[in-house]
Amino acid sequence: MAQTYDVVVIGAGPGGYIAAIRAAQLGFKVACVEKWRNPQGELALGGTCLNVGCIPSKALLASSDAFESVRHMLDAHGIAVDEPRLDLAKMLARKDAIVRKMTKGIEFLFRKNKIAWLQGHGRFVGAEDGAYRLEIDDDASDAGKAPQLVDAKHVVIATGSKARHLPGIPVDNQLICDNEGALSLPEVPRRLGVIGAGVIGLELGSVWRRLGSQVTLLEALPDFLAAADAGVQKEAWKLLTRQGLKIELGVKIASAEAGKKGVKVAYADAKGAAHVLEVDRLIVSVGRVPNTDGLGLDAVGLAADARGFVPVDAQCRTAVPNVWAIGDVVRGPMLAHKAEEEGVMVAELIAGQKPHIDYNCIPAVIYTSPEIAWVGRTEQQLEAEGRAYKSGQFPFAANGRALGMGAADGFVKVLADAATDEVLGVHIVAATASDLIAEAVMAMEFRASAEDIGRICHAHPSMSEAVREAALAATDKRALNI
Ligand code: NAI
Repeated sequence: MAQTYDVVVIGAGPGGYIAAIRAAQLGFKVACVEKWRNPQGELALGGTCLNVGCIPSKALLASSDAFESVRHMLDAHGIAVDEPRLDLAKMLARKDAIVRKMTKGIEFLFRKNKIAWLQGHGRFVGAEDGAYRLEIDDDASDAGKAPQLVDAKHVVIATGSKARHLPGIPVDNQLICDNEGALSLPEVPRRLGVIGAGVIGLELGSVWRRLGSQVTLLEALPDFLAAADAGVQKEAWKLLTRQGLKIELGVKIASAEAGKKGVKVAYADAKGAAHVLEVDRLIVSVGRVPNTDGLGLDAVGLAADARGFVPVDAQCRTAVPNVWAIGDVVRGPMLAHKAEEEGVMVAELIAGQKPHIDYNCIPAVIYTSPEIAWVGRTEQQLEAEGRAYKSGQFPFAANGRALGMGAADGFVKVLADAATDEVLGVHIVAATASDLIAEAVMAMEFRASAEDIGRICHAHPSMSEAVREAALAATDKRALNI
């Protein structure tokens, strides 16, 4: 007989494992299906974020930042060092150890919360007596064994996304890599090409540039970081190109061919002129596509939309009762923290609670150096919406803590409603933007005015003072330190 659960979550990435934990906290009998295998062939929880996304990339960003600091930044502090040597294998092993610690941590959380881990690929096979039947198949370890069957009153689809590849450009994760291969290059390429100057392109491009690669990014759009505030676009362009990232905008990729000596990328530039870029390795980072293959959606009367997403309402309900979908497999930004919020919301909705997500208050962060973070509206969006707004900006060059840290690049910009002073958007370029943005998110969740932020005592000296100063500047141009 099939085992019965109150809630079965398909996928144990940040959306799925958090949904499972919250549902277990609320007293449900919960199972989570996950099939991911790490390079050692072991089944692992955590999905893309922990295994080949957020966590390993941040480990490499920190390591490469340390390498670059020793090479170029210590002199200004009066510290003389001989040229440091890179032990890339050790750097990659450190990253792998962090990934292992984190994924094992979720196994611990599952045991603590009595969540069953159903190992293998989960798919709907039908619905009966108010429950959905799922089949869990683990080809790798159960070859020849009958798939496991489970029944669930509620199913949460949290299957995430995979890297989008370009037609005619086969990713082998050796010479032509997506995020997976790009996190494990066995040597620093002398010349690295990147197709797509988005989040992954800029973060991993920065990692390998700091370790010694000449990095060229080829971006299809004519605007750099098109989703960011125009002021942020300009500042980020200035700082990142000054560091040595070569970025070409408005390109049209014709082909990429791997050969003995590397990869040849043929493209047309913004004016239509043809070029060939020769690199030792190529990263393709042109966005991600949702994972719905082999999910058996049709067995329960569901279908993915034309772009492969599972259609849901504002509360992550699909078209059939008690089947929910969250994270990268549904509309909205493909961000781990957005998936987590949806996981918590769905578990609480199943429990009859009334949670709510304000999608306008989901921060975006790019972990370059300096970091780039924002929440809410950009100036372009406010202009397009015809909303009257005020803007206040404060540079880190006027912040004592930033100067002391050698991190005086960037600024904070606060956008507020012209009449009510309500904070509508905050845009930060700063060494610690990923943390500074939290204050802005909280202010917007509480519908604070810019003056509210300006009247809150901020520790001195700290980077956070720049947020306060920008808020004061937005209120009525009364920043105190410029
Ligand atoms: P992305 O959407 O951030 O950037 C893709 C870029 O590739 C865009 O600028 C796009 O215009 C460009 N592009 C698309 N087709 C192209 C083509 N044929 N030729 C040249 N350029 C082309 O996607 P990315 O960087 O692949 O990241 C995937 C997802 O992972 C994103 O949704 C992102 O939010 C998420 N992610 C988030 C991170 C964070 O929050 N810090 C870090 C890494 C990834």
